[in-house]
Amino acid sequence: MSYRIRNLQDYQHAQQMAQRPSDFWGSIAENYVWQKKWNNVCSGDFVDINFKWFEGAELNITSNCIDRHLIDKADKVALIFEPNEPSEQSHSYTYRELHSEVCRFANVLKKHGVTKGDRVCLYMAMVPELLFATLACARIGAVHCVVFGGFSAVSLKGRIQDCGAKVVVTNDGGYRGKKLIELKAIVDDAVTECPTIKSVIVVERARNSIQMKAGFDFFYHSEIKFVNDQCHAQIMQAEDPLFILYTSGSTGKPKGLLHTTAGYMVQVGYTFNNVFQLEENDIFWCTADLGWITGHSYLTYGPLLNGKTTVMFEGIPTYPDAARFWNVIDRHRVTHFYTAPTAIRSLELAGEKFVQGHDLSSLKVLGSVGEPINEEAWHWYSKHIGSNRCPIVDTWWQTETGAIMISNLAGITPAIPAHATLPLPGVLPALMNEQGQLITNQTAEGRLVLTHSWPSQARTIYGDHQRFKETYFSTFAGMYFTGDGARRDAAGNYRITGRVDDIVIVSGHNIGTAEVEDAIDQHHDIVECAVVGYPHDIKGQAIAAFAIAHHQVKDLEKLKVEINQSVVKMVGALARPEKVIIVSGLPKTRSGKIMRRILRKIASGESDFGDISTLLNPEIVEEIRKAYK
Ligand code: WT7
Repeated sequence: MSYRIRNLQDYQHAQQMAQRPSDFWGSIAENYVWQKKWNNVCSGDFVDINFKWFEGAELNITSNCIDRHLIDKADKVALIFEPNEPSEQSHSYTYRELHSEVCRFANVLKKHGVTKGDRVCLYMAMVPELLFATLACARIGAVHCVVFGGFSAVSLKGRIQDCGAKVVVTNDGGYRGKKLIELKAIVDDAVTECPTIKSVIVVERARNSIQMKAGFDFFYHSEIKFVNDQCHAQIMQAEDPLFILYTSGSTGKPKGLLHTTAGYMVQVGYTFNNVFQLEENDIFWCTADLGWITGHSYLTYGPLLNGKTTVMFEGIPTYPDAARFWNVIDRHRVTHFYTAPTAIRSLELAGEKFVQGHDLSSLKVLGSVGEPINEEAWHWYSKHIGSNRCPIVDTWWQTETGAIMISNLAGITPAIPAHATLPLPGVLPALMNEQGQLITNQTAEGRLVLTHSWPSQARTIYGDHQRFKETYFSTFAGMYFTGDGARRDAAGNYRITGRVDDIVIVSGHNIGTAEVEDAIDQHHDIVECAVVGYPHDIKGQAIAAFAIAHHQVKDLEKLKVEINQSVVKMVGALARPEKVIIVSGLPKTRSGKIMRRILRKIASGESDFGDISTLLNPEIVEEIRKAYK
């Protein structure tokens, strides 16, 4: 089985092979470096929730990300670092340098007693040392647990306690735009009730003043003086844990999803290679923070497994102004750009004037991830960033899936605006109806499930396998439930309609909020919107739309009428919003997701919003509540 799909024929061949996932993934796995090959490609099922991949195999993922490239591309650039301040020099690291940096970091961790199986929590800015530390953990078999540097001390503490980390690696401080985040001070706060933590390693970055506790806090630059830059790659069993990554559930505390070594490596490397279709000297830029799965799989592991050049950006899209992304693409001659719809919409709002004057001709492929991209934003992205010549890959996946599951392949399978399109080879999706039955019609709408395990699937929720079973495998027996709704067309293309818990049922009709949002976003005065359902005496549920307008609205009533018309036109009269509220912002998580849960409560007249302190913009909640009244 070829590791690289080069045309439609290859694609069809791969799809055919992949009807038997074990044979397919077994042959893909041949493209990696193993200490020992597997006895069994796949075992276990979705009933006992005990699936395993490549059992019996031995490997180290960093040997595949780094060492194997030292033979033929030691002097190739592995990492380009773009700092927050545009005036600060960017810096690049070759594969040889990456090897030294990772080994050195690994030796520092070892010096602090970290051994195979120990958990290490990384709470850092988007600096190269975060990537080095991540790989350093993998080098010695420690389990990395990256916590996004925007989370509060309370959130950090909860995660450290949950995973029982031995060491925290942090920065003194980190800059995001104009804002200084006092990372070390937050760690100081967080570790007060974390007895498992033996040391805190501090990588200097912002040079802000911090407190250092003797015998507990250690500067990285002092520690490396005691170590060399060679570190043997720990031999890992296929199913040994690689990392834990927390993701918030619809209820309860965050879930620590556990990913294991071999399967994750095989699928992340393969999907990176085929979805994005890089050529040897291409430059890949994924804008996600390493605190999210996208940063793990497609900023770090995917590009490095394939011996490519990856860009890491410390800052934010709007600093010093909304031209920053376009400026970085221009200067580093980025060929592949992978970002989120929320970023696209905010840069669209800033306007084309920020794009103008930047040479984006290096771009070959654009990507979207994280939420359904509305058609309007898709077209703007395609036209203004991709000059209508770059394919856009709309990649559907989840923290739980580890790797891209449904997406077009750049330049190979057709892109359709706002559609993730077809499953990747080796991925077996299906749609279920509300009665829990498999929908056999090709053209259909339903709940998206995966019927067979895939190599990069999360194996459990750390410390709570029961919750893992209940969350993902109890809705539909014998299947993994994604929590998403989707529509499938006659050609088998999937369009993700949004989380199922975001579905509104109006007069007995299911309406995906994403669809209505898409329609509202079409209006030229609207930048972004969110739609929720709220209880309605006659219809059961009605729709409330919260929308951000481009500029001061002169005729509010007229705008509302036009929004209604747009929804009626795009979706149908049954989806017409009962209420349209123009707001200046929407409540968002730090990863940029709109918190519809809060809007739902506002629309339902509730006033207890739970803990909103972890929002990016908690202050907006009160404003929206007042506007709604
Ligand atoms: C949820 C997973 C995948 C890495 C980042 C998010 C939504 C993700 C798409 C897409 C429509 C998407 C889904 C999914 N989602 N990508 N291309 N089109 N929806 O990971 O935080 O685990 O969120 O994000 O609802 O279930 P995550």
